[in-house]
Amino acid sequence: MAPMAGINVPSFCELLISNGCDFIYSALLTSYGIVRENKKTMEMKDTLPAGVDLVVQIFGGVPEVMAEAAAALDDPKRFAAIDVNMGCPAPKVIKCGGVALMKTPELAGRVVRAVAEKTSLPVTVKMRLGWDEASINFIELARICIDNGRRQSHCTRARARSALRANRTGHRSRASRKRSPCR
Ligand SMILES: Cc1cc2nc3c(=O)[nH]c(=O)nc-3n(C[C@H](O)[C@H](O)[C@H](O)COP(=O)(O)O)c2cc1C
Repeated sequence: MAPMAGINVPSFCELLISNGCDFIYSALLTSYGIVRENKKTMEMKDTLPAGVDLVVQIFGGVPEVMAEAAAALDDPKRFAAIDVNMGCPAPKVIKCGGVALMKTPELAGRVVRAVAEKTSLPVTVKMRLGWDEASINFIELARICIDNGRRQSHCTRARARSALRANRTGHRSRASRKRSPCR
C-alpha cells in the first residue's frame, strides 16, 4: 500500500493485512518530529503495524536532522526500508522538504547520503517528475539519489507539482485526475 497520510492508520492497516497486503508504507513522518520525539509523530510511528514489510517514510531538508531520524528508525526487525519523501507538495511539507527538494538536487543528494549513512536499511526515494513542468529533472535526481545512496531508487509518480495546480484550476491532465495534497 502506498504512503497515505491520514489513511494508513492502524485500523486501515489491519484491514489491509487481513486482506493479504504484506507491504505497507507509513504516512510521511517529519524528521524533526522523530528527532525531537514529538508526541504525535511518536504515536504515528509506534502504532504502525507489525507482521508486514513496513516502509517508514520521512521528510525533511536538513541532512543532519534526516540522518538523526534515520538512525532512530534503524530497526530491521521493525522496518523493511526508509523512504525519503521528495514528492509531497503540501505547503507545510515544502517549507522543509517534500517535492521542494527536487529544486535543489545537490541538497537532495546530501539528504539521501545522510540517511543512507545512518541506517542499515534500504533507502528509497519517492519523487515526482519535477517541481513543475518547466523543470522536469527526475532522471537527474534519480541518478543523484543512486550515487548518494546505496544504489536503490524508486520513482512512483509520473507528474510534476504544477500538474496538481492545473488540477485545482480545472485544467486537468489524464495523469492528474485526483485531488489529494500528497499525490
Ligand atoms: C489521502 C492521501 C494521502 C497521501 N499521503 C501521502 C504521503 O504521506 N506520502 C506520499 O509519498 N504520498 C502520499 N500520497 C500519494 C500516494 O502515495 C500515491 O502516490 C498517489 O495516491 C497516487 O497513486 P495511484 O497512482 O496509485 O493513485 C497520498 C495520497 C492520498 C490519496
